[in-house]
Amino acid sequence: MTTHRITAPEIRSRKGATPIVCLTCYHAHTAQLLDKHVDLMLVGDTLGMVIHGMETTLGVTLEMMIMHGKAVMRGANHALVVVDMPFGSYEESPEIAFRNASQVMQETGCGAVKLEGGQRMAETIRYLTLRGVPVVGHVGMTPQMVQVLGGFKTQGREHSDWDAIIADAKAVEDSGAFAVVLEAMAEPLAAKITGEITIPTIGIGASPHCDGQILVTEDMLGLNPAPPRFVREYAHLGVEIEAAVEAYAADVRNRRFPSKENVYSMKKRA
Ligand code: KIV
Repeated sequence: MTTHRITAPEIRSRKGATPIVCLTCYHAHTAQLLDKHVDLMLVGDTLGMVIHGMETTLGVTLEMMIMHGKAVMRGANHALVVVDMPFGSYEESPEIAFRNASQVMQETGCGAVKLEGGQRMAETIRYLTLRGVPVVGHVGMTPQMVQVLGGFKTQGREHSDWDAIIADAKAVEDSGAFAVVLEAMAEPLAAKITGEITIPTIGIGASPHCDGQILVTEDMLGLNPAPPRFVREYAHLGVEIEAAVEAYAADVRNRRFPSKENVYSMKKRA
């Protein structure tokens, strides 16, 4: 069966329309579960923290992003799959960014890449989009700047900070990105940016007025013991997994598992 896969221009055309549903995704099986419900799956570099137990996203490599990008593409045939450009793979020059972004697209088959930064990345975003790489921007709290920011800090809570963040969002728009993630910023600022730019804004810890929303899937499923304040948990899988493992351990220790239906009998002789 052939399914239409959502494209970057289709996401771009959703400005001000039905909200765009986005989630992060890192594995093939999860991609199958999400695919018919979401418009966009982000293979986020949060995978470094969520899957690999890192403290920040800074240790994530291009190879890791490509490996998880391939897995997600194998599981999804409807949602637009966007792969994050990891720290160190795009900041140095537009040419290096193009080499790495084109490798990500060629090896994974994904439909777009995302990179962090506003005004400072404008030239690179333009270089990529003019050469066939659809780009999602990312402004506000940009986790790859964690060491410069001194932590994962909410942005724009003082009016004096607004101009720079608005200029970042406009720079992303002007340079040809088809959407922009607004992460962890004061709600009125996210609403204002959404009203002032012509590309869809995808909020995470931002505003209900954004054109779409994204969460880390593991956070909204209740697998993060200390989720950020902006997460709403739609399930409590952490608690359920622990209860299941506890029950399994008790069954193994008491020889209740495996039982007759879990073992193979000998073939019957004719
Ligand atoms: O890496 C990521 O998962 C992200 C989202 C949190 C937007 O950038």
